[in-house]
Amino acid sequence: MRSWVLPVAVSVAALLALAGCPNNDKKPKPDPSPSAATSSSASSLTAAHGGDAAKGKALVEKQQCNRCHDGTGFEAAPQGKHCVHCHTDIMDAKFGSAESRVKWQPRVKDIQDAPSLEASSKRLGKKWIESYLLLPVDQRPALVQAMPRLDLTPEQAKDIAAYLGADDKDEPKPTGDVAKGRQLLDTKGCGTCHKMTGVSPLAASPVAVPLEPKEYGRAMRVAPDLRFVRDKMAPSRVVAWLTDPKAVKADSSMPKIPLSDAEVKDVVAYLYNAQIEAPRVTPPPQRLPVLTRKVTFEEVDKKVFHRTCWHCHSEPDYAIGDGGPGNSGGLGFKPRGLNLSDYAGIAAGFLNDKGERESVFAKDAAGVPRMVRALVARHAEEGGAPTGEVRGMPLGYAPLSLEDIQLVESWIAQGRPRS
Ligand code: HEC
Ligand code: HEC
Ligand code: HEC
Ligand code: HEC
Repeated sequence: MRSWVLPVAVSVAALLALAGCPNNDKKPKPDPSPSAATSSSASSLTAAHGGDAAKGKALVEKQQCNRCHDGTGFEAAPQGKHCVHCHTDIMDAKFGSAESRVKWQPRVKDIQDAPSLEASSKRLGKKWIESYLLLPVDQRPALVQAMPRLDLTPEQAKDIAAYLGADDKDEPKPTGDVAKGRQLLDTKGCGTCHKMTGVSPLAASPVAVPLEPKEYGRAMRVAPDLRFVRDKMAPSRVVAWLTDPKAVKADSSMPKIPLSDAEVKDVVAYLYNAQIEAPRVTPPPQRLPVLTRKVTFEEVDKKVFHRTCWHCHSEPDYAIGDGGPGNSGGLGFKPRGLNLSDYAGIAAGFLNDKGERESVFAKDAAGVPRMVRALVARHAEEGGAPTGEVRGMPLGYAPLSLEDIQLVESWIAQGRPRS
């Protein structure tokens, strides 16, 4: 039993180690869901949208979308490599010792969901997928984890969209009763799970169908902001969805809510025709002034590097060759060789596009070190105002608090004392 009582860091690294083990790489099996729709009519889809579905499929495999999403057309990545399933297993007490889970569960409870892409070709328009992949916006207000900004060219995004997306034709604007539609959204329980930003807040009303508490919890976390429906889905797809979500997407977390055909029409009319305010863009917050008290490596390491960054920037030797997507590469990223798990690794910097080492402390014209810019950029992404040039860190996860950014910046400003 003793061997299980490892310090948290060691046990997680060892388990994450599985992540890098090449023997663990299973050949993904094609799944009939999205590919069936694309392969049967690939040529017409390609003609309509301009993307190449076959190339898109290959990219979905290469970019490892199956480390977060189900329903990609590829078997889920093994648990030891899966950025969602391992966290879910920890919450469900299927992984780790009881003692470890006490420490882990509070850390992973908010990062245990990603929407499944099952039947995406019956739901999500290609144009929308293409633009979303290039610049993801926060669509799920209750979900902490975000769709990461991946390293994709516009052409690659188009190809992926051709593989995953629905081939939609222009449809006339829905004609139901907008006012009645709004009333239904307020009374049928829609607002209990969904937000619709840009309109007056939806009322939270009882849902007419029974739901298991666990299912309910997940549904509330992954319910999308309904403001995006008009951009994501053709009206006829929303009609089909509201009539029976599980008939469209077998693993849907949205229950079938009894609505007459006329009611469905009215709801759809509201979703497409309601006046919505422009999206709220929140510029990144002002950084706090650097601290005058001494900040040691031990403190920054404990609160930031080993708490958050290390999960993607770890030491490859420790983890059987896989230093995570921010070090060895993965999720379609080039290996950047940035090991944030110890002092020397951080000092060694990262590999730029030319394959040369570059410091993460190099200052821009305004005197801000690169690492600090990456931390602020994550706030900008969350606020809907991505800065573009530097990718936000931690990639796709909650931005660091201003106090933690201040700690990193103060440590750098003090000449990075070791102790
Ligand atoms: C590290 C985890 C992660 C990886 C890797 C990832 N995604 Fe996502 N993705 C998410 C999360 C989380 C969301 C939901 C974000 C939101 O709604 O705000 C999301 C949302 C999406 C959506 C929108 C789905 C919907 O129903 O709204 C699409 C499409 C998508 N991802 C495609 C992809 C593709 C294609 C890849 C691979 C090229 C990929 N994702 C890789 C985490 C990931
Ligand atoms: C083998 C199981 C496992 C896998 C696979 C896994 N994680 Fe985790 N993850 C954990 C555990 C355990 C914790 C909490 C550890 C702790 O307390 O230090 C965690 C925590 C995290 C955190 C820290 C959250 C915070 O509080 O700052 C991030 C970020 C994270 N994981 C990202 C990922 C990403 C990205 C992947 C896929 C590349 C991944 N994880 C794959 C087990 C796993
Ligand atoms: C129990 C929570 C819950 C309730 C109640 C609920 N939904 Fe949903 N809804 C979801 C979830 C979760 C999804 C995402 C489903 C998925 O991807 O599996 C969703 C998806 C949708 C979508 C597709 C949007 C997109 O971006 O993919 C529409 C439209 C929608 N819901 C409308 C409604 C309407 C209208 C009502 C009320 C009649 C309603 N929902 C009630 C949880 C709920
Ligand atoms: C979910 C995985 C993930 C997490 C967590 C993460 N990173 Fe990264 N990081 C990456 C990836 C992937 C790259 C490579 C990006 C690229 O190639 O554009 C990267 C690159 C970087 C870079 C160098 C590249 C640049 O353009 O500046 C810095 C600095 C960085 N990360 C800092 C951090 C810090 C600090 C943390 C913790 C607060 C962190 N990262 C957490 C995945 C992650």
